[in-house]
Amino acid sequence: GRIIFIAHDGEQHAADAQPGESLMQCAVNNLVPGIFGDCGGCATCGTCHAYIDDRWRAAAGEVNEDELLILDGSEHARPNSRLTCQVTFTEELDGVIVRLPPVQR
Ligand code: FES
Repeated sequence: GRIIFIAHDGEQHAADAQPGESLMQCAVNNLVPGIFGDCGGCATCGTCHAYIDDRWRAAAGEVNEDELLILDGSEHARPNSRLTCQVTFTEELDGVIVRLPPVQR
């Protein structure tokens, strides 16, 4: 599958994604700038924050409680914010557009 990451300045990075991996892992594996994943995917660092395009929000699932704790503390949080380490890639997410916030915390 494929994920399109769009940086805050508009630069696009297309990445190959495998079902079962997280969007964060895909970004890190593909050296996408702006997604760091410092905690390794534990939903504690918040450096994998991004916005899921509305067309794929339902397929990305619900924000979990660990994410909420982090996102509540981010001035850049929006209704479509996710911690990308908490979103598992599935075929339903093929082609998903993921936009990056201006900065990671
Ligand atoms: Fe740390 Fe997602 S990688 S919160």
